[in-house]
Amino acid sequence: MEPPGSAGRPPVLVTRRLPQEALDRVQASCEMTLYEGDGAMRRDRLLAEVAGKAGAITLVADRVDDEFLDAAGAQLKIVVNYAVGFDNIDVDACTRHGVLASNTPEVLTETTADTAFALMMAAARRIAEGDRLLRAQTPWIWGPLMMLGQDIHHKTLGIIGFGRIGQALARRGLGFGMRVLYHDVHRPPAEVEREFGAQYRDLDDLLRESDFVSLHTNLTEQTRHLINAEHLAIMKPTAVLVNTSRGPVIDEAALAAALRENRIFAAGLDVFEHEPIVHPDLLTCENAVIVPHLGSATVQTRLDMANLAVDNLFAGIEGRRPPTLLNPGLWDQRESQDPFRAIGLRCGTLGIAPGGIGGCA
Ligand code: GLV
Repeated sequence: MEPPGSAGRPPVLVTRRLPQEALDRVQASCEMTLYEGDGAMRRDRLLAEVAGKAGAITLVADRVDDEFLDAAGAQLKIVVNYAVGFDNIDVDACTRHGVLASNTPEVLTETTADTAFALMMAAARRIAEGDRLLRAQTPWIWGPLMMLGQDIHHKTLGIIGFGRIGQALARRGLGFGMRVLYHDVHRPPAEVEREFGAQYRDLDDLLRESDFVSLHTNLTEQTRHLINAEHLAIMKPTAVLVNTSRGPVIDEAALAAALRENRIFAAGLDVFEHEPIVHPDLLTCENAVIVPHLGSATVQTRLDMANLAVDNLFAGIEGRRPPTLLNPGLWDQRESQDPFRAIGLRCGTLGIAPGGIGGCA
């Protein structure tokens, strides 16, 4: 990127405060518009602020669709979602508009798996409920039947969506002597199954057999309400359901009813169907552990995500391939149509014409 203060700094939009180190990087090279409000930017403001930008870093609450891309204008080169999930990004629309789209996978895999495991343990062992009991100064004395939970070790862990985070959760489960089942539309290579001793199940069998069910799918039209009343009905009454993926993967009203009637043992939820609103019935379920979308929320991981977002942003603006691209087809198509790339003369720095002075670093 060009040094600070030089002319022609690309205008970019960042829709929420990110860790400062990453903002400093953006500020040093770009004309940054930063939304400093607490919540998500209102739609009309988002559309107004993105107009004329070369790049944007968006968050899960910012919808990137035809309307957003039209509002931005033809000079927009890249949209980077500060999240691994990208259900808020219409990737096809980005491709149609010739805009690169990227997200921040991998750097948050282990941290999100930690969160899923923490929710499993908290829900199974009634940790939040016990904390509430003491804070309410409820009289208590140790008792053989007091607040009994479910064992985690040596139980069966059913993972729906066996990608990076699902596999990282499996690794944690193995450490607890758990048997791992998984369901995914894509079967991983046999060596991945072997590594985790993981056995494939169709969805119903996984739900019937598992003591813990953890969701790690993308949100798509196929996975919306994947866990509905019928699926909850076939889970064990001792089962714990965990969701660190996206809220709408569960029919929240159906889950609240199942928890209220103790048809499953407990749930650990990081995400909600109508986020940030939590279904009011869940708020009154002692057996629901609910946390405000903290999956990747550690100091280090949020910084790593921010730096990866900025790497993607700079690459997209400079005409280099962004490291974690969601529409690689668009990139490949451009590459194949670019005669300078074909003969290796394209440089990756703003302001340097193809084959221009200085050569490529
Ligand atoms: C957060 O939910 C993410 O997708 O990274």
